[in-house]
Amino acid sequence: MEQSGREIVVGTVGDLALGETRKFLLPTAGEPTEAFLVNVAGEVHAWVNRCRHVEITMDWVEGRFLDETRCWIVCATHGALYAPATGECVSGPPVGKFLIRVPLRTEGDRLIATVPEGL
Ligand code: FES
Repeated sequence: MEQSGREIVVGTVGDLALGETRKFLLPTAGEPTEAFLVNVAGEVHAWVNRCRHVEITMDWVEGRFLDETRCWIVCATHGALYAPATGECVSGPPVGKFLIRVPLRTEGDRLIATVPEGL
């Protein structure tokens, strides 16, 4: 993917179907950091792939983050549920905590992610 400083092109507008998720790597210092896109209710959001309970990745199958209802991001380790639009944990050990949002913007039809502050 095309990368410039702390930004990276992560796709094009409309290329992620409703209810789908897709991983990408953020260009952070040292090792890249995993993040993912989620299309919920027609809006695409991006989150760092790091649970707020234990700092580990959350996908239960490579690149899959939503539960069977496709309403919640679920952490594979202890089952925490996060709201895909806000990142708030609504159930599980880190309840009340928030995933780290990856800012997204569009430029033409390109979807561009920015490394969040602090990473
Ligand atoms: S590591 Fe995610 S809920 Fe425990």
